[in-house]
Amino acid sequence: SEETTRLHEEINRLKKEKGAVIMAHYYTNPEIQDVADFIGDSLALARIAQDVEENVIVMCGVHFMGETAKILCPDKRVLVPDPEAGCSLADSCKAEDFEKFIKLHPGHTVISYVNTTADVKALTDIVVTSGNALKIVNSLPDDEKIIFGPDRNLGEYINCLTGRNMVLWDGACHVHERFSLEKILELKRENPDAEILVHPECRKPIQTVADKVGSTAVLLQYARESKATRFIVATESGILHQMRLQCPEKEFIAAPPSDTCGCNECAYMKLNTLEKLRRCLAEMSPEVEVDATLAERARRPIVRMLQMSR
Ligand code: 13P
Ligand code: SF4
Repeated sequence: SEETTRLHEEINRLKKEKGAVIMAHYYTNPEIQDVADFIGDSLALARIAQDVEENVIVMCGVHFMGETAKILCPDKRVLVPDPEAGCSLADSCKAEDFEKFIKLHPGHTVISYVNTTADVKALTDIVVTSGNALKIVNSLPDDEKIIFGPDRNLGEYINCLTGRNMVLWDGACHVHERFSLEKILELKRENPDAEILVHPECRKPIQTVADKVGSTAVLLQYARESKATRFIVATESGILHQMRLQCPEKEFIAAPPSDTCGCNECAYMKLNTLEKLRRCLAEMSPEVEVDATLAERARRPIVRMLQMSR
């Protein structure tokens, strides 16, 4: 629309004026993705944040993504369009409870998913994302005892594939837990040639029927390279925008959630709007701040992840 074009022009002008770079997660609204300099999964967004030359990063995603960028780049200003964009998975793991959990399992290496707050990361030995979790766990000795949090579904997935018995924190993402196996199988019956793409935050029965389980970037790459021309996609529906842009000749069907009132959108990701993006550039606020001592402690397991997943 005209309004979108106007906002894109204004955002591009402000971006140059402020020397900023705009990063967006695949789950953000299409019009945000279309104005971003980089779009990625959580792993790519962390990697890119570290490498960009600009001194101002605008992170269109959820809070932990901005926080991770700030921890990796303490000298840069990290702006977020809406500081209320949280994450139900990060919320399911409070640092004080996680600390007690760790104390209950002495001698365990603590692995945390990147969808956590800085204080949980500070209690962690190695951070992982869905894009590198399997590789990182596999690189540890077979007999290493591991605590894995907070996503139980990703943890179970890794336990199944590696034969390990990691101790799992009982957390989950409200969007990914909602997908219905029955409805996905119904869609598969109607579209027998379609391949099923599943994010590892989905429950195990859904992972079991997948042709590919992976992070948003992994699923996107799989869709590009697969010989199939139709896909049923069980993850947040924002990813469909890049799938359709990058594979215009293929068809993508969003897997439906089980309850009629729920939806396959992450309400937190969708708090990012073009107008809020424009305003945060114009006002150079809201800015992500992380206490320096906390950032230092949270940085170590993130850097370890980046080194281990090269
Ligand atoms: P990715 O690391 O696959 O981008 O996932 C992030 C996320 O929040 C999934 O819900
Ligand atoms: Fe968090 Fe789930 Fe939203 Fe991902 S989709 S940001 S895990 S609430």
